[in-house]
Amino acid sequence: MEKTSPKKWVIGNWKLNPYFQDAQALFQSITQHIEGQSLDCQVAIAPPTAYLAFFSAQNLPLPIVAQDISIVNGTGAYTGEISADLLKHANVNYTLIGHSERRELFGDHVERLQQKIKNAIGSGLHIIYCVGESLEQREAGHAKDIVIQQLQELKAVLSEDDWQNVIIAYEPIWAIGTGKTALPQDAQDMHATIRSYLQDHTTWANRISLLYGGSVKPENAVELAACTDIDGALVGGASLDASSFISIIQAFAQK
Ligand code: 13P
Repeated sequence: MEKTSPKKWVIGNWKLNPYFQDAQALFQSITQHIEGQSLDCQVAIAPPTAYLAFFSAQNLPLPIVAQDISIVNGTGAYTGEISADLLKHANVNYTLIGHSERRELFGDHVERLQQKIKNAIGSGLHIIYCVGESLEQREAGHAKDIVIQQLQELKAVLSEDDWQNVIIAYEPIWAIGTGKTALPQDAQDMHATIRSYLQDHTTWANRISLLYGGSVKPENAVELAACTDIDGALVGGASLDASSFISIIQAFAQK
């Protein structure tokens, strides 16, 4: 396999925020900052579903990412659903899959996630597949087993070539929206475990970007970016503030 480093990414996951006018203003501040710069880091935004078509219809300097997709694909009588295929045709080429908020709050169990992965890859989307353990699982010493299990569930539905379209985001659930960040050493340790799993299972391992998520902010971004196997960040709360998000982008661009 050709030896190349994984691409660096900083992705803002806006979740169900903010209201439309604020979203437009935030978007403008971010795009103004990155336009014309040759940053050594790919910046992307995952806005709420309601704004996907609006943002993706513009000629933007950064990819738009869906936060989730349906278990059904194509078109049809599926009121309220958003399919991978529809997104692809609306110029959205990336989607998150398996965010812990979808797993915990909206019933995304393994079979649903595997169907979503198949739909996304089948429609030509790139996926940002989220993994991570709960506090109870970490305290019981099972963090790595849980993450490996989640990777196995991913691998079970991918062909060797499909790995080219995969980004992994490690988001320990106890660090999301809590202000508690994993210690850089702990995050690096898990990322090294993920890299090693990938090396055992795909020839694309050294090109797959591994992002860390969970209370990433300007104050900890430089330290996280310095870790060997952390190739970027999936940022929640801090991505809603343009200057914080831009500081995080700079931290990874200078890695
Ligand atoms: P916070 O950055 O708000 O902790 O959220 C992380 C996250 O869930 C990104 O997907």
